[in-house]
Amino acid sequence: MKAALGGWPPAVLDPAGPYAEPITRLAWALLLGGTAVLLIVLAALAVALWGKPALRKRLGGDRTIWIGGVVFPGVVLTALLVWGLWLTGSLQATAARAGEMRVRVTGEMWWWRVTYLGERGETVIRDANELHVPVGQPVLLELESADVLHSFWVPRLAGKMDMIPGRRNLLRIRAEQPGTYGGQCAEYCGGAHALMGFVVVAHTPESFARWRAERLAPPPPVSGRGPELFLASGCAGCHAIRGTPANGTAGPDLTHVGARRSLGAGILPNNRGTLAGWIADSQTIKPGNRMPNYKQFSPDDLNALAAYMESLK
Ligand code: CUA
Repeated sequence: MKAALGGWPPAVLDPAGPYAEPITRLAWALLLGGTAVLLIVLAALAVALWGKPALRKRLGGDRTIWIGGVVFPGVVLTALLVWGLWLTGSLQATAARAGEMRVRVTGEMWWWRVTYLGERGETVIRDANELHVPVGQPVLLELESADVLHSFWVPRLAGKMDMIPGRRNLLRIRAEQPGTYGGQCAEYCGGAHALMGFVVVAHTPESFARWRAERLAPPPPVSGRGPELFLASGCAGCHAIRGTPANGTAGPDLTHVGARRSLGAGILPNNRGTLAGWIADSQTIKPGNRMPNYKQFSPDDLNALAAYMESLK
């Protein structure tokens, strides 16, 4: 189902920015170094089982045990410890730099609330389940959780970072090329943990300026059966649509839901059919999610509601 999201599945060893590259280097060193050690141990095992008596005797000598069992692991593990600590320290994001783009990403069961912040930390744009950034620029993410532990992971752009209730963890990302970079919640957070996908869309500067202008533009007036049903059926209790009386905050902001890459946090493509299916029967699509099924709509009403959602771009 995750194929609904471009950039899926995310490549784990294919960094696309400076905050992912050093992690990938360390991962390769561990993988190749670990393989080399395994081969040496297997060779020693083969000698112990089938080697000539003289060779076996040397293998069992004090010198081999001291070098192979104490000195070698001591040196290698210390080097890895120093490398790991240095790497963690060098990637540790500190407070925003002057003029740096800041976005708060809040893990929720089981989706991502995305809030673009202004200079003074005020909310500028509300979105969900995807993050739009300009290429070539660092972006500071403020990672929070609204309920349980989640973990933010977009492997091509940065390492994993836990989202902890009551805490704010900082993570810096930077994409060098325009593209779509898949992400996934990387900490078990309940039933739909596996269905908690995410995507970062990196734009050229011009395309990013266009995207931002679209998001900041005053929403066009809406009318008709779809908007009426939305307000009359209780949808607005949980969802907000800017420019309308709908101002619920429990669920994803729907002001631009029609423009999103996916539905249900990366699990369905976004079109009128899947929108209608999600409204009527989201519990079958993503069991346990916080939105109840709305089976009461006639096919015509469902179509009107889905068309309304699709039009919110
Ligand atoms: Cu959120 Cu796992």
